[in-house]
Formats: sequence, C-alpha cells, structure tokens
Amino acid sequence: PKKIILDCDPGHDDAIAILLAHGNPDIELLAVTTVVGNQTLEKVTRNALAVARIANITNVPFAAGSVRPLVRQIEVAPDIHGDSGMDGPVLPEPTIKLDPRHAVDLIIDTIMSHPPKTITLVPTGGLTNIALAVRKEPKIAERVKEVVLMGGGYHVGNWSAVAEFNIKIDPEAAHIVFNEKWPVVMVGLDLTHQALATPEVVEKIAAVKTQPAQFVLELLEFFGKMYKQAQGFTYPPVHDPCAVAYVINPDLVQTQRVPVDIELTGTLTLGMTVADFRFPADESCHTKVATKLDHTGFWDLVVDALKRIGEV
Ligand code: BDR
Ligand code: CA
Repeated sequence: PKKIILDCDPGHDDAIAILLAHGNPDIELLAVTTVVGNQTLEKVTRNALAVARIANITNVPFAAGSVRPLVRQIEVAPDIHGDSGMDGPVLPEPTIKLDPRHAVDLIIDTIMSHPPKTITLVPTGGLTNIALAVRKEPKIAERVKEVVLMGGGYHVGNWSAVAEFNIKIDPEAAHIVFNEKWPVVMVGLDLTHQALATPEVVEKIAAVKTQPAQFVLELLEFFGKMYKQAQGFTYPPVHDPCAVAYVINPDLVQTQRVPVDIELTGTLTLGMTVADFRFPADESCHTKVATKLDHTGFWDLVVDALKRIGEV
C-alpha cells in the first residue's frame, strides 16, 4: 500500500477524504494532522476525532497543528461548512485521544523514520503545517515521495476571483510548499469542480446502508445546500477526496506538468496559483496540475471504501 499523511481541516470534504484513505486497501494512513482552515483548530480537530470514531479508526495517530496562518489573520468558512466546521450530522463524542505531539513534529518524525521516498503528503487544508515542517526539518523535502495537495486552480478561484480557499488563507505557506523541490501535484478547483456529488452518486452511497455511509449522506446534504446558496452549484464539488483518489490511482486524474508559483503581492490576485502554460515544461519542472477527473471511477472508489468500512 501507499503510505500517506493526511493534513486536513475537517470540513465535510476533508471528512470524506479521511474515510476514503481509511477504507481503501491501497492506502496506509500513517497519520492525520489538523490545521486551522474551515474552522478554528479546536473545531476542526474535534471534527477529525469524531470522524475517527464514526469509522472506527483506532490505530492511526491524530495530532493538532497550527492555530493560525503564518502571516495573515485567521479566515474561516462558515458559509460553506457551518459554525462547527462540519455542520449537518450529529457528531459523536470522540473516543480516541490526540497524539501529544504538535502536527508539525508528528509529520517530521513520521517522514524521517521511514525510508526515503515512501511517504506521500496529502494536504487538504491551508499549507501552514507543511510549510512549518519543511522549515523546521528541511531534509523532509527530499525524503517525501510527493506532495499531492488539494488547493489552487489555474483558471478559477473560489475565495476570490482567482484564488482558492486553501491557498488564499495562508499564501505565504503555499509559497513555501510550491517552491520546495519536492514533486507537487496541485489538485485544484479545475479538477475538483468535476467531482460533483450528483443524485446518482448520492443513490450509490445510500445503497451502502451503514452508519458511516449515512454520515456521508448527511454531510453531502448540508454541503450541497451551502454550495447552492453560497456559490450557485447545483451539486456540491467534493474537493478533498480527489487528492486521495489521485494517490490511490493516478489514472483517474489527468495531469499536466507546468510551473506554478503563488502570488503574494497582488492587490486583486493574492493567493493566486499562477501556472505558466506558455512553454512545454521539461522534466526538471517539479509541479503538475490536475486537469481531468474520471467521475465514475472516483466515486466508485468512495463507495467501495464505505463498503469496506462497513458497519462499525
Ligand atoms: C477547499 O476549501 C475547503 O473549504 C474545502 O475543505 C477544500 O479543502 C476547497 O476550496
Ligand atoms: Ca479542506
């Protein structure tokens, strides 16, 4: 199996990413770390632990990370994720305890104690923890196999006309992550706006008929309502599990190698992921952007993971 560390801010779609990573047999989930984003660190961490309980994830360390972005003020997203960060389902009291380490230390310890190029980092929130980790222990840059992150967009934004939430809330952290020499796959809005939870998808999840599947249905119901109100989507785009799906089966996601950098000074373009499509990129270019999703293949993976998780 492919070893991953999931750094997230649950978050409806982050929760589904956790379930996909846990339920898929080709993934070994080494750690779940949390970062301020969709809500405060306290709230998203509580949500992550609630997901662990719902799916009976007992043997994976969960650690809390950064309480705020590197430079900017905290920006949360209640208009999409509600006041708790994961409104909709009633959340159970967590049963597992947090790892005592800071997320940044858990990330570094895990990477440094495994053989080189065996761990994929999967950030699905702001990049604060990842940026701090590579600054604290620069050796992780060459030890990590790949960074497959949900964030950005080369032709569309959602937190401004041109910037996506995960990048916009901590652009300096994103700048650090995109400018390290590790391979980066940007699973941005260009891709995740194809991952719509259509009625057919909802039907397939409903047919699983387990508590974790019911939990996903309730997440999608709330998420769908908010996406309709806030951004005019008919069906909600379920961003974060796309990054996990790419790690499971890269054939589900077409990518293009292209240089990407993060805008830090634009008054209208702060946090834009600027992709330079002018020239054919050579092998030395370490960034790729995701372009096209196999919608059926993607959702089949999610449904399959729920079936494997079963009734807990
Ligand atoms: C990203 O922002 C968050 O609200 C979601 O969880 C996702 O990671 C989409 O822009
Ligand atoms: Ca997220």
